[in-house]
Amino acid sequence: MDHFLYRDGRLFAEDVPVHEIAVAVGTPFYLYSTATLVRHFRLFDEALSWGPHLVCYAMKAASNQAILKTLAAEGAGMDVVSGGEYARARAAGVPGERIVFSGVGKTAEEIRAALEGGLRQFNVESEPELRVISQVATSLGVTAPITVRVNPDVDAKTHAKIATGKSENKFGIPIARARDVYAEAARLPGIKVVGIDVHIGSQLTQLEPFELAYTRVAELTEALRADGHEITRLDLGGGLGIPYARSNEAPPLPTDYGALIRRTVGHLGCEIEIEPGRLIVGNAGLLVSRVIYVKQGEGRDFLILDGAMNDLIRPAMYEAHHDIVPVIEPAPGQELAPYDIVGPVCESGDTFAKGRPMPPLAAGDLVAFRSAGAYGAVMASEYNTRPLVPEVLVRGDQFSVIRKRPTFDDMINRDTIPEWL
Ligand code: LLP
Repeated sequence: MDHFLYRDGRLFAEDVPVHEIAVAVGTPFYLYSTATLVRHFRLFDEALSWGPHLVCYAMKAASNQAILKTLAAEGAGMDVVSGGEYARARAAGVPGERIVFSGVGKTAEEIRAALEGGLRQFNVESEPELRVISQVATSLGVTAPITVRVNPDVDAKTHAKIATGKSENKFGIPIARARDVYAEAARLPGIKVVGIDVHIGSQLTQLEPFELAYTRVAELTEALRADGHEITRLDLGGGLGIPYARSNEAPPLPTDYGALIRRTVGHLGCEIEIEPGRLIVGNAGLLVSRVIYVKQGEGRDFLILDGAMNDLIRPAMYEAHHDIVPVIEPAPGQELAPYDIVGPVCESGDTFAKGRPMPPLAAGDLVAFRSAGAYGAVMASEYNTRPLVPEVLVRGDQFSVIRKRPTFDDMINRDTIPEWL
């Protein structure tokens, strides 16, 4: 459920009419709802309330500090995957002990910064990384808490580009080799094993793959304990999917997911961490855009928007579906006509939808892409020298620009010209 609803024929974000924000901010822009963010966070938090736990928001999904602060105030931890994300989480006021650091390519500099600033744990993805963490920790005279991310070889049944738990993927250590890696971790100076980590993919719409993976993690926990390791924490990753189309069957709810976690690993007495990103922020965000032209093509009509693939890459990159709705509610029974919905960028891949049934729209009309909060603004680029889309946060009847649209000068002046030119 989200807080973007029609009222009196107009789309609202909580208590603010979307068109009013469009007039104030200009289009396109990302628009987030605080109430939806908080609601989704609490669903996870409550789903795990049967035991000690920490919901570490995967901030790669949407990393604006206003979003991080909103979630941190609810008690969220953060899952970070780069030195930049670590610094951003700290800048937003997230304490180090609530930050887990994931990712296959952590550099020695990133490891050092996190150890100096404080963190909850590194989720280690390879033996070479483990050795670098040991060296850096030893040189700083500190101990690095770690889990090893295991790859359970489970088919997440999601888009190939976002499946991470099969043995052919670059992520984690094959679960069959895990005991050897934990043995090495226990021998290395500056390393303290605290648990196990797993993450099998994103936009999972079924619970079975989680069930398989977590069952394997439970078995591994027993085996590692028998080997003498102290396993007190299980980081079970993120990945729970969201409904992208209103017409689709809804994926499992956080409550079902929490119950599954309890069933598979609850008996181990571990503290549970999860790293949801998409489900927290996906349906808490819209991309609002304006129709520039309605163009008649050969046997098809195009809606040309001022938003483009550089602003929301998901349709071009993953063939993702986003519902696109008019900001003025169509009258009941209004006839729909098929449109190809495209942006102004100079490639055919800049297509959001083909033959999408839409009510009649005209130049100047506003539309909103639903479910655009996750992996939207963060994956935007300035391709075609298009300014990064601003972000706006609504809370009740107030809204605030949480990232400004850069000016052309801001963009252009980032280049530096060699003196020989
Ligand atoms: N933890 C780890 C280690 C991850 O790699 C990810 C996502 C998450 C947590 C959060 O997963 P979520 O709950 O959001 O599914 N750009 C793609 C999604 C990439 C996901 C990458 N990893 C998209 O737009 O669909």
